[in-house]
Amino acid sequence: MNYRHAFHAGNFADVMKHIALARVIEHLKLKDKPFRFIDTHAGTGLYDISGDEAERSGEWREGIGAVLDDGKLAPFQASPGSNLAGLLEPYFNVLRELNGATQDESRGLRYYPGAGELARRLMREDDRLVLNELHPDDGAALRQRMFRDERVRTLQLDGWLAVKSLLPPKERRSVMLIDPPFEQVGEFARLEQALSDAIARFATGTTMIWFPIKAGGASDAFLKRMAQSGHTRLLAAELLIRHRDTPQGLNGAGLLIHNPTYGLDQQLELILAWLSRQFGQSAGAGSNVRWLAGE
Ligand SMILES: C[S@@+](CC[C@H](N)C(=O)[O-])C[C@H]1O[C@@H](n2cnc3c(N)ncnc32)[C@H](O)[C@@H]1O
Repeated sequence: MNYRHAFHAGNFADVMKHIALARVIEHLKLKDKPFRFIDTHAGTGLYDISGDEAERSGEWREGIGAVLDDGKLAPFQASPGSNLAGLLEPYFNVLRELNGATQDESRGLRYYPGAGELARRLMREDDRLVLNELHPDDGAALRQRMFRDERVRTLQLDGWLAVKSLLPPKERRSVMLIDPPFEQVGEFARLEQALSDAIARFATGTTMIWFPIKAGGASDAFLKRMAQSGHTRLLAAELLIRHRDTPQGLNGAGLLIHNPTYGLDQQLELILAWLSRQFGQSAGAGSNVRWLAGE
């Protein structure tokens, strides 16, 4: 396990994934019943972007750094009349709170929340979080960070097995994020299996799968197979920062969502179109949101 998320925290792919997650959580909060958030590959839950790893890679600068106004965590402004500001508010409020910017408007970004810390700050008293991370050091950091919060359970299991063992949730309402590092061959096949497992264990939960878009067409082939898988209620969202076949590097990021919360398709259309303008590095940048399989 060589991958360490500290190098990538706050990059464009994190921003996309975390804004989408915040939208799902906000929707689940509309009902008075508790729900559970499960992150099968959770990282450390919180990152210091002034730290050595984030500074060395600098990825956050072209991610969250590119959407902040002059580096400051000012309240988010969007074009008048657009719904965008309201959709982004919960995510930006967590960033502001975490960095002390709600008291001091001039504060910039130092701490970037992983999915765990983001969810923890958005969730209510009776909601529950299960954060699983296999790497011994990152797992220990996660536990250290979260143990004071009684709503959170941290685990150090193989995330692919955790998909099965953590479902169905006691609350009968859940969102599961499956966000592997893609450092081994076969991750797309594992994701397919994981989605089938999740659906078999708890068909009505929301499952969010993250995947990279690189040259070679592996992500296109994955989506094609998923469209033919027989699973229903599958939404795919892609964000490209340059043309999808640019030879090296991460050209974009995608989310495949089973049982998306109501209205998420339209929300993501707005959000990703805006993000592609913030992050876009060339004419090939853009976004698309489409149903692979409906009801
Ligand atoms: C992309 S990062 C996760 C980021 C996190 N989900 C978030 O949004 O903040 C992927 C994580 O998976 C962990 N990991 C790798 N293989 C794993 C496995 N088999 N089971 C659980 N975690 C694993 C890595 O150590 C890494 O921290």
